[in-house]
Amino acid sequence: MTKNELKVPLFVPWISKKDKDAVIASLKNPQLTDGEILRRFETELAGFVGSRYAVGVSNGTTALHLALISSGIGSGDEVIIPDMTFVATANAVFLSNAKPICVDIDDSLNISTQSIRKNITRRTKGIIPVHFAGYPCNMDEICKIAKEHDLKIIEDCAHSLGLHYKNKHVGTFGVAGCFSFYPTKNITTIEGGMIVTNSRSIADKVRALRNHGLTRTLIQRNKGTKPWIYDIREPGYNYRLDEVRSSLGLSQLRRFDEINSRRIKAAEYYNQKLNHVKGIEIVNYGDRKNHVYHLYIIKIKREFGMSRDLIHKILFKKGIRTTVHYKPIHQFSYIKKTKNSEYRFQKCILSYKECLTLPLFPTITRKQQDYVIRNLIKLCK
Ligand SMILES: Cc1ncc(COP(=O)(O)O)c(C=O)c1O
Repeated sequence: MTKNELKVPLFVPWISKKDKDAVIASLKNPQLTDGEILRRFETELAGFVGSRYAVGVSNGTTALHLALISSGIGSGDEVIIPDMTFVATANAVFLSNAKPICVDIDDSLNISTQSIRKNITRRTKGIIPVHFAGYPCNMDEICKIAKEHDLKIIEDCAHSLGLHYKNKHVGTFGVAGCFSFYPTKNITTIEGGMIVTNSRSIADKVRALRNHGLTRTLIQRNKGTKPWIYDIREPGYNYRLDEVRSSLGLSQLRRFDEINSRRIKAAEYYNQKLNHVKGIEIVNYGDRKNHVYHLYIIKIKREFGMSRDLIHKILFKKGIRTTVHYKPIHQFSYIKKTKNSEYRFQKCILSYKECLTLPLFPTITRKQQDYVIRNLIKLCK
């Protein structure tokens, strides 16, 4: 199957004329990075999620890395993460010189709060809940656990821009929330990320660390008479988000409702059509209405009569791209070395066997969805 024969891709980014115009306009300004468009994007995103500060960075992984080290997490510390997540969650913990401790998930595919409790040790310093696929974790319980054990919560919101838990935007429950704007995410800057926080000291630290540790930004230096004067209090990184990407992000954020309502509508159509198909289980989300559908995932049960892998293969032959999110973290060889494998991941292992991600993107057509649904149902024995 060549790319051109693909009838329904897994994901197609939606870059509108408005988005393109914003990008072209940003290129006309001589300051191409660390400038006013980034500041505007940060201000509007902070307003959107209801946090005091937002700091743009080069991607979601660097957002997690800086949030962790700026919260004081480092060598000798353990950080609890779900076993079902993209590997960036674990990598960011390693980058911070701490150790990720993977724990099992619950029926909604989110981190299991029981499993968090079981894996707390005297070294545990933080928890990274991932609002998986766009559905919120049980933040009441996670906040309670964090309070009882004095743990820092850093929310991985890579899948969940626009998502609320009990009327509060995700990312605002702990010390920091981290967003990714990778092309498949709910809005994109192509590569990019953002840290939101209510802590001034974390925001200041992240701002310096994303920019080599400099105590003054380019805007501040250009305003003064001696732009070469700044201090470095600790070595930093180049994790900046440039003006061109920020202009795309800002434009996408301003049309968030337009983009996301299409995702949700398409997901609800799948729900409606697949709800009663033998052997297909819609993930048990508890409250399906509170979901921003970064991913649309179904479970293929034994009664379907065909394995998930074979379904994937046959659909691909029909020009339909599906995939699996994700291979469990504890199964990667580098994580096995950290002795995570001694824990049990029953639900995660089962989900990995059964889950199938269907094509979902804002511009997917009814015709494309019907084609997916028809071909999938045909395979049921
Ligand atoms: C759950 C999760 N966390 C973190 C990341 C990392 O984001 P990025 O690719 O922008 O570094 C991703 C990206 O796919 C993700 O899915």
